Amino acid sequence: RKGRTPEEVVKRYLQKVRNPPEEDCTICMEALSGPSGYKAPGWCLVAMYNNGNKDGSLQCPTCKTIYGVKTGNQPPGKMEYHVIPHSLPGHPDCKTIRIIYNIPPGIQVSPPSPVRTCSVCVMMGSDLSIPNPGKPYTARGFPRHCYLPDTEKGRIVLRLLLVAWDRRLIFSVGTSSTTGESDTVIWNEVHHKTEFGSNLTGHGFPDPGHLDNVLEELRAQGITEEESLRD
Ligand code: APR
Repeated sequence: RKGRTPEEVVKRYLQKVRNPPEEDCTICMEALSGPSGYKAPGWCLVAMYNNGNKDGSLQCPTCKTIYGVKTGNQPPGKMEYHVIPHSLPGHPDCKTIRIIYNIPPGIQVSPPSPVRTCSVCVMMGSDLSIPNPGKPYTARGFPRHCYLPDTEKGRIVLRLLLVAWDRRLIFSVGTSSTTGESDTVIWNEVHHKTEFGSNLTGHGFPDPGHLDNVLEELRAQGITEEESLRD
């Protein structure tokens, strides 16, 4: 797992915590709810990582949970893709990969018990990934159709998106920044192009930097070409 800095490993798992418990971090003894002051969030996790065997994973010193592969809270659904014989603006010499995501509405399920409140697991968001367990979620605008150029790089991105789907990182349940609706299925941190022949929404083509941006966003989720070959 060469080439990944301790900061990158920690950042991959670190989550923003909405309501941190009134407890101290077991590593640095600062309050979890404190305004993490002059230090960058997660600095103590970096220190912990540097004291360990530096193998790309992190372990909670309290409950021993290992954080090795980042996974998300994407609800159940289906991802399909096929090639369509049309070109995207900006990619005149190739066909197009169309991805179709379909997620039905459902009920938010609780994370696997026991719910962990150790400070490291709280920082990893392991007990906070579902906003409202037991409550229904809506799913708007499905099936969602997305497009990639059918080039060598486009096919690499597709392969990594399939890994992201299996790790439940393409969508999440939360509040839509577009509609303001809460408890709904929303795009997670990997941008998709949902507009085919134009770019009126900013989510269309042409966009010369798109594939590189997506590769960078996937990398931030711990998904790289090198990594996906191991799956
Ligand atoms: N297409 C692709 N990505 C989008 C779109 C869109 N039409 N709208 C927003 N995004 C991106 C945003 O730029 C942001 O990075 O998704 C991320 C999350 O935005 P939200 O508005 O919270 O996500 P969501 O509610 O899932 O999406 C809104 O996207 O695909 C459509 O049908 C969907 O109309 C819905 C819209």
